[in-house]
Amino acid sequence: MKDEVLSAVSRRNMFLAPDALEVIESNGYSMEFVNTLLNSLSKNTVFVMKSDVVNFLNGDKGIMEPEKVIKPKVKRDSDLSIIPGSDITGQSTCTGTIEDFTKYFRSRYNILKKIILKRRDFDPPLSISRAMEVDREVNIVGIIYEVKTTKNGHTMLEIEDETGTCNVLIRKDTPISNELFVNDEVIGVTGKRSKPSQGNGKYSARSGFFNANKIYRPDVTEKSSWTPSDSDSSIAFLSDIHIGSREFLKPQWEKMIAWLKANAYEKNLNYLVLPGDVVDGIGAYPGQEYDLEIDNIFKQYETLSEYLKEIPDHMKIVMHPGNHDACRLAEPQPALKEIYTKSFDSNIYITGNPINLNVEGRIVTSYHGKSIDDWVQSVRGMSYEDPPAVMKQMIMRRHLAPMYGQKNALAPEKKDYLAMEHLPDIFVSGHVHGAGRLEYHGVKMINASSWQSQTDYQKRNNFNPDPAIMPVVHLGTGEITMHDFLK
Ligand SMILES: [Fe+2]
Ligand SMILES: [Fe+2]
Repeated sequence: MKDEVLSAVSRRNMFLAPDALEVIESNGYSMEFVNTLLNSLSKNTVFVMKSDVVNFLNGDKGIMEPEKVIKPKVKRDSDLSIIPGSDITGQSTCTGTIEDFTKYFRSRYNILKKIILKRRDFDPPLSISRAMEVDREVNIVGIIYEVKTTKNGHTMLEIEDETGTCNVLIRKDTPISNELFVNDEVIGVTGKRSKPSQGNGKYSARSGFFNANKIYRPDVTEKSSWTPSDSDSSIAFLSDIHIGSREFLKPQWEKMIAWLKANAYEKNLNYLVLPGDVVDGIGAYPGQEYDLEIDNIFKQYETLSEYLKEIPDHMKIVMHPGNHDACRLAEPQPALKEIYTKSFDSNIYITGNPINLNVEGRIVTSYHGKSIDDWVQSVRGMSYEDPPAVMKQMIMRRHLAPMYGQKNALAPEKKDYLAMEHLPDIFVSGHVHGAGRLEYHGVKMINASSWQSQTDYQKRNNFNPDPAIMPVVHLGTGEITMHDFLK
């Protein structure tokens, strides 16, 4: 790579500053990138400096967050599509080999590193192995392997990239000491290696560490906001319907259907997403058989299809599985097989979990939310009472379920479908049966309630649902309305 870069530069009668080469190399860019960079420079350029590379990176449209195109709404024309590459259905290849895991984490690292590199406040990083050789402040990007607290109360992160690992020290007396870290998230760090502990000036992996000054996450920029469009459509969400459960709230569901019949067409409520746990399933938890009114999984889906036929025809429906559905538990979950959904109407898109939709130019990410269990258990300050706060942590890390090896099972697919490659305008989850909403730098986050009242199992586990609420988001203004059908 180095020779190819140097010969491309010399062919143009240019010289490349060593630190410019370092930036190019450490980011692993292709020759296509190098040629585009060189072509972008003035013909009079003789010396290509680090600042030229950095400026190019910051201005390179190819790697910048794409400008959002908000399409105007043509009344009654349905404009919903699945964003290519976001659905695992038919794409699953993993068998659980070590190679699968390596590919999976490499995919995660690359997707999230690319997002971190788009940050204008983050200079191009060095590789970890290179960063541990230089005595100046540099940036690195790594995936967190372990979070520890030292005996002096500092935080020590073990992070790695494709070139090696290092210990990153977060001192307890610095402004970054309050940062929350979770295993397997990808972060950028500004800092400097600790002084070499050996007389020969070489870094000692055993005693050395990287002293962090600042942490960068993929996140969303603070300046982002919801840009109004002239769409007059709205999208509704009905999560965790749990058909088959004795606690299914049939009267409230019927009240909601009656409301849709009376209002959906008039109000341009044209889209509906069902973010998983559409049925109660079989054997989802110990003793579930006592809570079931329909104890046959096929019958549960057939009953659901009958209920969904009542929804006004003009509404496009998207349905994906959750942990109660007849689907593998490991995420990403493929779409329900036809054997369960053959009685469903053709206006229903049956997709995998998670899924990214383009609805009239708005990106809608729908994820059932099983990982919320892990967030609540592992991350300080997170609780089942406030799921949107957990969803904010996901957006900050641009990952729906970073923690590997906890309660929520992840399948090591060759691409990380749980990494939030696309920044959503609307981000919806379910699973915890709460009805919450929060806006974070223009992203509307919603936990989409449930149509099941508290089961005995939930009562024993102190799980308090907030059922029979239908959140609706206006695609033009972004206004969120929570329609409560419990009363
Ligand atoms: Fe549920
Ligand atoms: Fe669930």
